[in-house]
Amino acid sequence: MAVRKFSEKRLTAEVLHRIRNTKNPRLKQVMASFIRHLHAFVREVKPSHEEWEKGIGFLIETGKWCSDRRNEFILLSDTQGVSMLVDAINYKAGAGATESTVLGPFHRLNAPEYPLGANIAKRASDGVPCLVSGTVKDAKGRPIAGARLDVWEAGADGFYDSQKGKAMNLRGVFRADARGRFHFRCVRPEYYPVPHDGPAGKLLTATGRHPMRPPHLHFWITAKGYKPLITHLFVKGGKYLDSDAVFGVKPELIVDFKKSKGGVATATYDFVLMKEKK
Ligand code: BEZ
Ligand code: FE
Repeated sequence: MAVRKFSEKRLTAEVLHRIRNTKNPRLKQVMASFIRHLHAFVREVKPSHEEWEKGIGFLIETGKWCSDRRNEFILLSDTQGVSMLVDAINYKAGAGATESTVLGPFHRLNAPEYPLGANIAKRASDGVPCLVSGTVKDAKGRPIAGARLDVWEAGADGFYDSQKGKAMNLRGVFRADARGRFHFRCVRPEYYPVPHDGPAGKLLTATGRHPMRPPHLHFWITAKGYKPLITHLFVKGGKYLDSDAVFGVKPELIVDFKKSKGGVATATYDFVLMKEKK
């Protein structure tokens, strides 16, 4: 049997040749691109054996940090800008439609459903009281009655409920009324760090970056016939708006959280959903 002579130059072509029988065309395309880019990366970086081992060790460590409550690979994707890149490719807000941003790891299924006006903060110590209101409409300004708004946020201590235990707090589901209006109580969002005690955090520090996210409130808005919208409202004037650790800030999503006389912050926003393509 003739064995082809190894050559650094030929190797990429040889690996690509080996996957020529991949049945799934999308997998073939993805793997061919992966091989080409990975080989090009190695050619550019020229890692020593020790550096290559260190890279593999980093991936092993990232896997070890993953559990039901923590996905270090998603955190790595978020902090390296990949999650926002995937979102930018897949969610193109049409004229007048609300921009999307990163989902993050702290959304939970089965959050309690509340009537409009309810408070998602269970304790006074959760933060500064805040009232958020607005509408959900389509691109022509027509209200989307019954739109489902799933909202969640960190407390003033910088933690989400899921980082502290099983109990649900600072999250809830609301339904817009017949005129597409919603309002609920929460706490004024504060800045906080993404989990940074693992490999993703170590990489941030090693590359001269901080782990902070600017103050924000998460929304996942759905309605029949419309594209789901995953987004945040960011607090105008908040710290780290220009250096979000996960690159999630878009100017259109920055909102004034005004202080009212009674010490309650108020914010209002009109969300615009795009029609689902049939
Ligand atoms: C968040 O906003 O909840 C978040 C997003 C990405 C990574 C970590 C946290
Ligand atoms: Fe968040």
